[in-house]
Amino acid sequence: MKFNSPFKAEVAGTGIYLPEKIVTNRDLEKILDTSDDWIRARTGIQERRVAREDESASVLAVNAARAALAEARLEPDRIDMIIVCTSTPDVLYPSTACYVQKELGAFRSAAYDISAVCSGFVFGLSIAEQFLKAGRYQHILVIGSEVNSRIVDWTDRSTCILFGDGAGAAVIKRVETSERKGVLSSHIYSDGTQTDILGVPGGIGRTPISHASIDEKQYFIKMVGNATFKFAVKRMSDVALEALEYNGFTTKDVDLMIPHQANKRIIDAVGERLEVGPEKIFVNIEKYGNTAAASIPIALHEARQCGRIKPGNLVLLTVLGAGLTWGAALIRW
Ligand code: COA
Repeated sequence: MKFNSPFKAEVAGTGIYLPEKIVTNRDLEKILDTSDDWIRARTGIQERRVAREDESASVLAVNAARAALAEARLEPDRIDMIIVCTSTPDVLYPSTACYVQKELGAFRSAAYDISAVCSGFVFGLSIAEQFLKAGRYQHILVIGSEVNSRIVDWTDRSTCILFGDGAGAAVIKRVETSERKGVLSSHIYSDGTQTDILGVPGGIGRTPISHASIDEKQYFIKMVGNATFKFAVKRMSDVALEALEYNGFTTKDVDLMIPHQANKRIIDAVGERLEVGPEKIFVNIEKYGNTAAASIPIALHEARQCGRIKPGNLVLLTVLGAGLTWGAALIRW
């Protein structure tokens, strides 16, 4: 059912923060049985960022949020809601968003986290879209922030090469207009039958912290790489098509596709399935690896910075993450 609202949800500002420390593939060659050639060929990644010990997800998030608020020319006390999308929160609770709220001084906002891993930002954007189009709120800050370096096993060459740290934020604003612009629609899904192919099994409920669970490295990312790869290609393509069809478009109408930056080969395969040429696909995985929930907002910001998104452009976001979770959003700029 289509939801016809007099309100639209527009991106009013974006910002990013990347930790300074760069870890290249060559650096990883020194600690792992791997090679720069293998990592580039299988993933497209050349380097990734690693946060300092004092840079937790909330610290990264606050830096990205300040940049987004500056572009939106918005004072923190005008934010109605802060949604932090993260799978590497500062602590189990309170939410990372509450730390962000305190640092920003955004005390009028409801602040909470959502956990949809690499799909997080599109899930967060979808929540923001609903609140804004319902007319309930005016400004919502959606942030993807991750310190994946804390949960990768640096001795596991099949996972640690993939991930990186970073944060991206967007101020989403309610506007009243008859024009067809802003977030046109968002489409989010989950499949709980695939919880075993990608996750961090150790945790409070199922595997209470013990010497044994630490020795078994239960608090690190475990992944069945090729199964995740296949799901990513199919789900990201299918949901992208759904978003286009829902709005009466085809892939030919897309000006820029921003896919989740998990693996360059996944991105290429999605492009081929959708028949969207490389010139219309934004890629920055070579610099940052997979930054999970931060991947889309970092890419969105960089795409805007380098002039790849112009007023009137149709921008398609498509993602997949652990859960499994997946989703797409279509934005008319
Ligand atoms: N360096 C060198 N060799 C490596 C390696 C590394 N960093 N990692 C794995 N290998 C080896 C494997 O041990 C295996 O060796 P074997 O044939 O002797 O057993 C070989 O390379 C092939 O492994 P495989 O897992 O089949 O490679 P792949 O082509 O599937 O690539 C991934 C592995 C992880 C890069 C790929 O599966 C992937 O990107 N999956 C999706 C991951 C993802 O996107 N996750 C997040 C989703 S949000």
